[in-house]
Amino acid sequence: MGKDVIIACDFDSAEKTFAFLDKFTDKKPFVKIGMELYYAEGPSIVREIKRRGHKIFLDLKLHDIPNTVKKGMAVLSRLDVDMTNLHASGTKRMMQAAIEGLTRPDGTRPILIAVTQLTSTDQESMENDLLIREPIDKVVMHYASCAKEAGLDGVVCSPLEAGKVHDCCGRDFVTVTPGVRFADGDVGDQKRVMTPAEANRIGSDYIVVGRPITAAEDPVAAYERCCREFIG
Ligand code: C5P
Repeated sequence: MGKDVIIACDFDSAEKTFAFLDKFTDKKPFVKIGMELYYAEGPSIVREIKRRGHKIFLDLKLHDIPNTVKKGMAVLSRLDVDMTNLHASGTKRMMQAAIEGLTRPDGTRPILIAVTQLTSTDQESMENDLLIREPIDKVVMHYASCAKEAGLDGVVCSPLEAGKVHDCCGRDFVTVTPGVRFADGDVGDQKRVMTPAEANRIGSDYIVVGRPITAAEDPVAAYERCCREFIG
């Protein structure tokens, strides 16, 4: 698996997205399209960004009955994205159905990763709202193992969990980690953050970086700094 920096394009319109991406004339960064942009613009935004030569992580976090997820994934695979995701809490059966749907007639498919417990869920809300009484660390590792057993390629996790996920599921099991900040940058609303260099040391395969790049005065310079610190 390639190590890379993925830019979270959290914009609410195609216009803002292209104004941002137009700044990158040399290297075409790997971009993440999340719910906001996808729901605003639909599949055409995926096709257009792909046409411009970017790799795409389509972050829609599917979670439904297996048959519905399978059919949804089949449509996403035709969009030719490079990576997509779902919630592991949908069960192994749902994850297996997702892989079936995502696999193209020629046997290829995008990288499929699972969300374990959202990083916005803490021990208290997990116990009170979800009635899950185990320690959150154990729950995250269990969900990661289920994703691996279902045949998925990896998980989205906090950079602080990436090392443990590799210990538990193997070095080849991909970790995609948001919550990355420069040592001298704003933390914003992220609670537990790491620098790109630290994320590299603990073994993240992909880092997802939004505002430290999208809100920078010079986004291209911020992206290049991120690549230098993370990949070397
Ligand atoms: O701007 P920032 O670098 O905080 O953006 C991080 C991106 O990663 C956002 O798109 C956010 O939704 C996403 N993300 C996250 N934490 C998770 C899962 C996804 O920050 N646990």
